[in-house]
Amino acid sequence: MSNKRPETMERIATPALAEAFIDEQIKAIRAQVGEKKVLLALSGGVDSSVVAALLIKAIGKNLVCVHVNHGLLRKGEPEQVVEVFRGQMDANLVYVDAVDRFLDKLAGVSEPEQKRKIIGAEFIRVFEEEARKQEGIEFLAQGTIYPDILESGPVKAHHNVGGLPDDLRFELVEPLKFLFKDEVRVVGKALGLPDNMVYRQPFPGPGLGVRCLGAITRDRLEAVRESDAILREEFAKNGLEGKVWQYFTVVPDFKSVGVKDGKRSFEYPVILRAVNTKDAMTATVEDVPFALLQQITERITHEVKGVNRVLYDLTPKPTGTIEWE
Ligand code: XMP
Repeated sequence: MSNKRPETMERIATPALAEAFIDEQIKAIRAQVGEKKVLLALSGGVDSSVVAALLIKAIGKNLVCVHVNHGLLRKGEPEQVVEVFRGQMDANLVYVDAVDRFLDKLAGVSEPEQKRKIIGAEFIRVFEEEARKQEGIEFLAQGTIYPDILESGPVKAHHNVGGLPDDLRFELVEPLKFLFKDEVRVVGKALGLPDNMVYRQPFPGPGLGVRCLGAITRDRLEAVRESDAILREEFAKNGLEGKVWQYFTVVPDFKSVGVKDGKRSFEYPVILRAVNTKDAMTATVEDVPFALLQQITERITHEVKGVNRVLYDLTPKPTGTIEWE
């Protein structure tokens, strides 16, 4: 099949066009897979979630979703995947708690690319093990979207579960492969996915692993997760959700001296990052109101264990990258 978007294809910008796309894809998916089973790695990101919702409509429980919790997801994400797909959509969902496995493999590894490699390789291994436990799978669904095919920009998507061994090379089902991101969101909305899943900001495949700088430790990883949750909550409360392109926190692997409850403390800082960009090649820093930065600082230093300072990263890209690793 061609990998070029048909020139006649209308931009999916309205609910009605999304409905038409969904009907058409349901037919195409049924024609492709028949009564056979399809496997999908469901991260909870926009693309894999939309593929899952579409395939559940088309083939119900013949779609086997595998959600791997590698311990590097944001607060509440694994729970939301289970609640939305198993709870609301009655999906055939396998939830794999692989937290210890990933953190053990990553222990002591500080080089960023090495961390990425370990996370990617371990993900394939866990997915492969789950694939082998399933009987009769003949297809692999993937949330490939058109920009992945065009390979534009440095947003390093992790859509394909390439790297599976030869005997697990399934035929691919890629219903979103001609869609741009905004179209995927319109389709996701029409499929009934929650707004916070559909309008989610970009999140790297290696997740919080590249925001817990250097060798990942459980205490700093929790500090990243908790501070990120506070930042997201405060941005949402103050009307910045959906307005700022990407925002998150980073915890470096050094401590500084502070005072807490009248006593000297020696704890980690949290770095806040909030940027805007069109294509992630360059980025500018969001002009976050100072009072909001102070409010976030107050919350993080009081609510997050092991943290005594908060810093705001004022660096555009270039010279900084968006992530710190
Ligand atoms: P940088 O840090 O290179 O980030 O300015 C540009 C965009 O790419 C995302 N990013 C990643 N996405 N795997 C991903 O799926 C990765 O390893 C990765 N590293 C960076 C980053 O979040 C930003 O949106």
